[in-house]
Amino acid sequence: MCGIVGYIGFREAWPIVIKGLKRLEYRGYDSAGISIINDNGFSIYKKAGKVAFLEDFTRNQDRSGRVAMGHTRWATHGEPSDINSHPHSSNDKRLYIIHNGIIENYATLKEELLNRGHQFESDTDTEVLIHLIEEIQGIEQIDLLEAVRLALNTVIGAYAIVIMDRENPDQLIAARKGSPLVIGIGEGEYFIASDATPIVEYIKNVIYLKDNEIALIKRDALLVKRLDNVIQTPLVQELELKLEELEKGGFDHFMLKEIYEQPRSIRDCMRGRINAEEGKIELGGIKEYADKLKNIERIIIIACGTSWHAGLTGEYLIEEYARIPVEVEYASEFRYRNPIITEKDIVIAISQSGETADTMAAIEIAKEKGATIFGICNVVGSSIPRITHAGVYTHAGPEIGVASTKAFTAQVTVLTLLAFYIAQQKGTLTVSKLTSLLTELDSIPDKIQTVLATNNLIKNIAAKIKDSRNCLFLGRGSGFPVALEGALKLKEISYIHAEGYPAAEMKHGPIALIDKEMPVVVIATKNSSYEKVISNIQEVKARKGIVIAIVTAGDKEIGKMVDYCIEIPDADEAFLPLLAIIPLQLLAYHVAVMRGCNVDQPRNLAKSVTVE
Ligand code: AGP
Repeated sequence: MCGIVGYIGFREAWPIVIKGLKRLEYRGYDSAGISIINDNGFSIYKKAGKVAFLEDFTRNQDRSGRVAMGHTRWATHGEPSDINSHPHSSNDKRLYIIHNGIIENYATLKEELLNRGHQFESDTDTEVLIHLIEEIQGIEQIDLLEAVRLALNTVIGAYAIVIMDRENPDQLIAARKGSPLVIGIGEGEYFIASDATPIVEYIKNVIYLKDNEIALIKRDALLVKRLDNVIQTPLVQELELKLEELEKGGFDHFMLKEIYEQPRSIRDCMRGRINAEEGKIELGGIKEYADKLKNIERIIIIACGTSWHAGLTGEYLIEEYARIPVEVEYASEFRYRNPIITEKDIVIAISQSGETADTMAAIEIAKEKGATIFGICNVVGSSIPRITHAGVYTHAGPEIGVASTKAFTAQVTVLTLLAFYIAQQKGTLTVSKLTSLLTELDSIPDKIQTVLATNNLIKNIAAKIKDSRNCLFLGRGSGFPVALEGALKLKEISYIHAEGYPAAEMKHGPIALIDKEMPVVVIATKNSSYEKVISNIQEVKARKGIVIAIVTAGDKEIGKMVDYCIEIPDADEAFLPLLAIIPLQLLAYHVAVMRGCNVDQPRNLAKSVTVE
């Protein structure tokens, strides 16, 4: 996600835009830029780093002007750098664009434009779009609004854009598809932003542009059209949310917002990478290693915390579908135990932040021993992607809550795609099986939406266990990493001691803990180990434990033997982690809130552990 702010009116634009970008930094903060038009002409300032850095960098520059647009970036194509930051310009430096989203067909468009003599400065998909608009306007000899409309009809992907024309300073053009854009309506002034956070202090009336709509904005006029050229009468709405609520999108905490973002973040993670009809997967970041993957004899996954739990789901998926042995190592252990690694190994480092010290140190050791290193990270251009040979970004967007939620499901999504991708290379999955798996994977975001709808039930269950001192999480097969992750979520934000265990292991010790005070969360969905899990539930109930079961929708059998049931939609076992973790995230969240804990910044924890 990136942050967009635009202004056209009678006020000085710079203070509005720079303050607005700071309000949007929760959407992305690896680089920022502003373009502004004044009586002396046009200025553009763009720098890697936070918005405050751009502000300091331009302190002695000409920042006057009453038309401006700004962007704070969350890199998806092209690492964070001055040149990759927005706004981007057309070939003739007349048009400028800021963009939030992903242009999936940018490579094809870029090739065509290069063949027509265009020259590009950056690695971004955004720069291709403004060059395309320039090219269409030049060929068709049409006005800018029409050129933008025609260009967007050829674009595949998601965008929220604002375009500025140096030679036509009294207008801005905005458009959206798949990424949010709101237009604030003033008297003789208009505001544009990714959400209402940057504009709520200036105006009350807004228009939320709809997908496939484009707007021409002047100080005293607003024209909204659909991409099929039909003029729209947009709905004017009054803003109700307060600023503080807006940054959290109306949620009480960033963690809850990020839990609810998971249908979108998983779609973004899959975007441009799966073709369900043809049963094909594209992972551009590792495609040059496709042959190596075909013949690899071992994969080692290194990570910490939640990322380690994602890695464990990766082990189950890769071994099941690609039939390659996988070992999952805590990076902190791996780095100190002189591991046996050869150049025949592929090591996969998983890290949301891309900055975890233990994981980085483990990477260096594996590299020294000749392994090929892939990274699975969320923060584009962070340290780990810079020191690995290749990788796959999770595209989950900034994760502000210290307790990882959407990053975990995005990591699991990438590992699922990786398992299928290797199976595709090795032929261990038929095209028809891949087609059915990818078709079902495509439906997972909607199924997660269904699970999110059980939030109130989960909140009621949380109220029953909020005063517990201990909690056990049990699962079998791919339910075991889910149990581990559910336990970590509960312990790190509610401070209740929680442990995840393989359900069958309970009889080897933890069963001694079971009594009427002990809540036991069991992943008991209909899969290959269902009957065995039922036995484990009965063992707990025989000792008066409180059982909360995550069950397959419609399973009434288990309902008779447990205290609480939370249903998740039926799905292939491959996708169980993506669905079963959702209720556990919500359970941990509600318990922590009821215990008065600081959900977004739990005690003693940091979002990125950059020290040993
Ligand atoms: C998870 O909720 C925690 N925030 C923590 O375990 C985290 O997963 C771990 O520190 C690894 O961080 P990384 O993914 O950024 O490397």
